[in-house]
Amino acid sequence: MSIAVFASGDGSNFEMLVEKSRRQGWPQSITLLITDRPGARVLERAKRLEVAAVAFRPPDYETKAAYEEAILSVLREHGIQRILLAGYMRIVGPVLLGAYRWRILNIHPSLLPAFQGKDAPEQALDYGVRWTGVTVHWVDEGIDTGPIIDQKPVLVEPGETVESLRRKIQFVEHNLYPAVVRKWLTGEILPPGGSE
Ligand code: GAR
Repeated sequence: MSIAVFASGDGSNFEMLVEKSRRQGWPQSITLLITDRPGARVLERAKRLEVAAVAFRPPDYETKAAYEEAILSVLREHGIQRILLAGYMRIVGPVLLGAYRWRILNIHPSLLPAFQGKDAPEQALDYGVRWTGVTVHWVDEGIDTGPIIDQKPVLVEPGETVESLRRKIQFVEHNLYPAVVRKWLTGEILPPGGSE
């Protein structure tokens, strides 16, 4: 049984998940990276960490369903049981949700339900909140709407910039996400509705 991470960008969460899974000897390993951006920096990290990686180009597919079917066949080839979204900037569609119902987690850089979607740290600064944070949640068909598993707050300090806030949020993400995933793998966290 193994895990795939989906990422679109830098991949700092991907790297932290892989490192902690190895250091802590998780019962399932992260064996595959999927990206929708062939130029994404996360691919360099996967190479360095010796994790198999497959890059897809969504415009190569006529429909979102065809794109996700292509991903699904790679997931099946690799025997993937669970999926972690880590900066994957696409809405997961019915094909993947149907195949992996309640087996997909996401990390989002805000205290959901505040600031869903893109650029959550910018949204928090624009709104002027004193506290924002990080949420790990189950993925459903909405944008950052699935049931919440865990959250951690981050203080927005005077003079905070988007960059400084992002750094603080990512520091919290790098601890929270691996901790939640580990609990999921050991059965301490169960999917909505009960047993797997
Ligand atoms: C993370 O902060 C993650 O929470 C966010 O993208 C960043 C990816 O960083 N995800 C979203 O905004 C999803 N709506 P990383 O590539 O360095 O892990």
